[in-house]
Amino acid sequence: MRQDRRPLVIANWKMHKTLAETRAYFVELARHLGPVLATSSAAPEIAVCPGFVALTTAVAARDEAFAGVRRDLRPGVGVQNAHGETTGAYTGEVAAAQAADAGAEYAIIGHSERRREFGEPDALIAARLEGALRAGLVPVLCVGETIEQRRAGEMRAVVDGQTRAAVGGLAAPLVERIAIAYEPVWAIGSGLAASPADAQEVAAHLRAALASAHGERVAAAVRILYGGSVSAGNAGAFMAEPDVDGVLVGGASLDAGAFARIAESARG
Ligand code: PGA
Repeated sequence: MRQDRRPLVIANWKMHKTLAETRAYFVELARHLGPVLATSSAAPEIAVCPGFVALTTAVAARDEAFAGVRRDLRPGVGVQNAHGETTGAYTGEVAAAQAADAGAEYAIIGHSERRREFGEPDALIAARLEGALRAGLVPVLCVGETIEQRRAGEMRAVVDGQTRAAVGGLAAPLVERIAIAYEPVWAIGSGLAASPADAQEVAAHLRAALASAHGERVAAAVRILYGGSVSAGNAGAFMAEPDVDGVLVGGASLDAGAFARIAESARG
């Protein structure tokens, strides 16, 4: 990652943790990270994305556990999806505006599990992303190819298409606020992470595509993360790559100690 982009480290809990486990997690996270955040000027930006029902519990637990840490250095809380409309007849959905009202600051959008398991198409993902921006959240757009697409040499075309469909229509100042997570589908939850060189190649490619579509300034500002079997053992190597500005962590983020070690490795 480059010095002028603040590293972003995100926990995606997926469908895990009760309210009691949520509270315990933040106590544990503060025990590991509190001293680091209190003394470090180079602290990474950290966000934890619980399930919707634990959102307000997570916000309160974060505030309590990190009370001794400067507000702008405390971990943020985010959601794993959000609807683009502010209100409406969308049974089972949560609006980005509702998530923001409950204290969320980030929204994962277009995760491959949403695309594949729940059939979310590009147009819906674009609307969700725009809604997240409108609500003042930092959207984290997930893109990535399947193993079949990689074998067919379609990796670049897939991530380009997914990125263009989601951000193509947005004005430059909005694009700057987005983070993009390159998450190859075959690496998610498989224990088979991409290599740091692979992640760098795709991140550099995405940055070049952003530069030609939205200008150099935007491309230099957007944070591009890697996700897919990130662990305390490999996170540092990903973030040492010049175009990889952070990590999106699933399984390894469920343990507060492991997630804290991942966040600490952002400092190099
Ligand atoms: P994983 O998940 O770290 O468990 O591979 C990453 C993700 O799905 O965001």
